[in-house]
Amino acid sequence: MQGSANLNIMIKAARAAGRSLVKDFREVENLQVSMKGAGDFVSRADLAAEKIIREELTEARPNYGWLAEESDEVEGKDPTRRWIVDPLDGTTNYLHGLPHWAVSIALEHKGEIVAGVVFDPAKDEMFVAEKGQGAFLNESRLRVSGRSRLIESIFATGLPFGGRADLPETLQDLARILPACAGVRRWGAAALDLAYVAAGRYDGFWERRLHPWDMAAGLVIVREAGGLVEPLRPDGEPLADGEVVVANEQIFESFAKLARGA
Ligand code: IPD
Ligand code: CA
Ligand code: CA
Repeated sequence: MQGSANLNIMIKAARAAGRSLVKDFREVENLQVSMKGAGDFVSRADLAAEKIIREELTEARPNYGWLAEESDEVEGKDPTRRWIVDPLDGTTNYLHGLPHWAVSIALEHKGEIVAGVVFDPAKDEMFVAEKGQGAFLNESRLRVSGRSRLIESIFATGLPFGGRADLPETLQDLARILPACAGVRRWGAAALDLAYVAAGRYDGFWERRLHPWDMAAGLVIVREAGGLVEPLRPDGEPLADGEVVVANEQIFESFAKLARGA
């Protein structure tokens, strides 16, 4: 895989943040015993990872804009390009010592995501894609699954937690989808859910109330692996409204119909 200069910058930043997060993750695993201060410790690890990414990216491309989970948005001198960053997707897993979390970095150009990197340092899996260039896991090309029957398919989603108001809607989604498929997984990191659809591990994904940094990188990776991506509502726009449905081409129509409840 011959990536562009921008993609290589993104990979370098993701690896640097990944090293820092892995080091802190070992400490979090120890903190599980006492639980004292684990939340604050994870917040610091998250902020430290974002700082590393920001330094790497802004040093290389000082004119680009910046949208990230842990800091204020910055409009770049070049208003057509911005980084969209989640330094740690899967925070709850990280806090609980579960090795399923990722660094997510996307590049947007004129409102379109043109490159994405989702890095899972615990498994050393680097998912990358650039518009028109295909998607890759480490050095291997990615392709969405070829399953054509819903009943054999596995879907990923996120479930609302902590008193979020959209629980009833999600329970209705599950009531429609679960009986029609081989299973639904909720692993707690939307960026990895999308990367796993790209890798053919899941056959599709849907979720509501996501933020742009949860999905920007994953969306270009799944598209470049041959997946279809649409908003959940007519006239919706996933990055703007946080609702998305994704699947391989064969099952997309029937899965999207179930996810939309129409
Ligand atoms: C969360 C994860 C999770 C999704 C949540 C997100 P965070 O991101 O992507 O899978 O269901 O909606 O907020 O908080 O771990 O960066
Ligand atoms: Ca996230
Ligand atoms: Ca996060």
